[in-house]
Amino acid sequence: MELNRQWWKEGIVYQIYPRSFQDTTGNGIGDLQGIIKRLDYIKSLGVNIIWLNPVYESPNDDNGYDISDYREIMKEFGTMADFDELLSGMKDRGLKLVMDLVVNHSSDEHQWFKESRKSRENTYRDYYHWWPAEKGTPPKRWSFFDVESNAWKFDEKTNSYYLHYFSVKQPDLKWENPKLREEIYDLMRFWFEKGVDGFRMDVIPFISKDICFPKLPEKYNGDFIPFYANGPKLHDYLQEMNQKVLCDYDIMTVGEAPGVSIDQALNFVNEDRKELNMFFHFDLMGLDREPGETFMMRKEPWKLTEFKKIHSDWDAALANKGWGSMYLNNHDFPRSVSRWGNDSKTHWYNSATMLQTFLLTMRGTPYIYYGEEIGMTNIKFENLSDYKDINTINRAETIRQNGGDLDAFIQNEKDAGRDNARTPMQWDTSTNSGFSTEKPWLKINENFSEGINVASQEADKNSVLNYFREIVQLRKDHLALVYGEYELLLPENEQVYIYTRSLEQQRYLILLSFSKERALIHLENFVGTNAKLLLSNDDAVSMVKDGNFKVRPYHAMVYKLF
Ligand code: GLC
Repeated sequence: MELNRQWWKEGIVYQIYPRSFQDTTGNGIGDLQGIIKRLDYIKSLGVNIIWLNPVYESPNDDNGYDISDYREIMKEFGTMADFDELLSGMKDRGLKLVMDLVVNHSSDEHQWFKESRKSRENTYRDYYHWWPAEKGTPPKRWSFFDVESNAWKFDEKTNSYYLHYFSVKQPDLKWENPKLREEIYDLMRFWFEKGVDGFRMDVIPFISKDICFPKLPEKYNGDFIPFYANGPKLHDYLQEMNQKVLCDYDIMTVGEAPGVSIDQALNFVNEDRKELNMFFHFDLMGLDREPGETFMMRKEPWKLTEFKKIHSDWDAALANKGWGSMYLNNHDFPRSVSRWGNDSKTHWYNSATMLQTFLLTMRGTPYIYYGEEIGMTNIKFENLSDYKDINTINRAETIRQNGGDLDAFIQNEKDAGRDNARTPMQWDTSTNSGFSTEKPWLKINENFSEGINVASQEADKNSVLNYFREIVQLRKDHLALVYGEYELLLPENEQVYIYTRSLEQQRYLILLSFSKERALIHLENFVGTNAKLLLSNDDAVSMVKDGNFKVRPYHAMVYKLF
């Protein structure tokens, strides 16, 4: 097999939500100096790429995903000098930096939009999607963060509606306008010239729309992405962006791709097409959700066979062309150990380390979300007033206005709410977990005082944190764990996920339990095979040679086969 080796395939990404990482100014909000302070820690994890959620100037309607100046740093986070210091501190340590590129929409406080809404003749008018009121009410478009779920907002000044797929303060940019596209390519160059190493592209399939805005079909079932995103020009734009900007730099790109199905995957990441390196698909994120719903939990529990199928199908789709990205949580979805594992005291350690083992032994670049390395869990707020996320707040308001079931929604948010994954980093057992000297912008999970913090885990050689370092090192030491073929064993088993990874003569067996029950597994194919246990998160007494495996709850074992 010919390996198309790339640094971004062999890299391990650490995602930082800057607002929650480390405060150094005492305003309860994380900042760039805080990240600088923690660079040695990040380096010590063995990861080598940092993805920063947006740090640009923003009124923070959606925590930085509403950008009012793409070339300035958010005041709460610091200055451009802090940014430069961060970048150079990272370079010194051999860490690469990936920024968030949010260009489906800007903030309504961006200069472009301020101009655009002034008059129909304004030079910037065509930077956004406007619908003149004399044409009547625009065809229904659904909006994520709008209390009335209406993506069209009437703007009196010019007697027109503007489009916003997200909040009213996030008007959608009109990619059909070549001038707008040039502005975006320019701002990308600005950051590349500074030395950043790539972009994570926010809701990238949304940038192209059918701008005739056809009426939704009769049978419209709420699954709006096929109608609103993935528009006719999407791949033209991505190829143009590649030709005009990306191909000039040694950088990586990863698109956030809600609504992109597996059969469309190669249209984005097949290297021959010169578009993106990787993207985040949403199949796993949708597994425990109602069909077509990003944020509503489904009634019946998810099954391990479904989980395996998603990963096996995606691995196969990208086995020969393109490249995958592996993630179990991020700033939009709850904590992995609470969602895919078991965060009860009994099973927390094994669950957290088992999931780390999974991420780091699959093909595809692993993305670790800050705090995942110490097994941070969902906070599960009891009160709506604890939430800061516009998504939860506005959906609660919609339910209130429609006389819906708020209690059911509160329960739902305990499992689905985005703030579960945004609570401050748990550094130590001091006040506010060492995150800030003052009250943090979002409540801290109290379990920081019960061992889920960096300092306590540094001191314990058997901690989740130290296991993470070991599994990271294992991946780095074994090229087969990066590039090797993946083969699923026992696809029908609902307790354990077992696969091999093979590259030339190198072969590894990975056995992961997703169950709180013990199991005895027999693998006939391995009878007589010699094996060495490389890593396990629990007592591993199994002899591969007999083909028999004693599996403990949430057990993870990695064997090298001979
Ligand atoms: C993406 C971001 C999310 C944000 C949304 C709108 O999904 O990850 O946090 O709210 O886009 O920009």
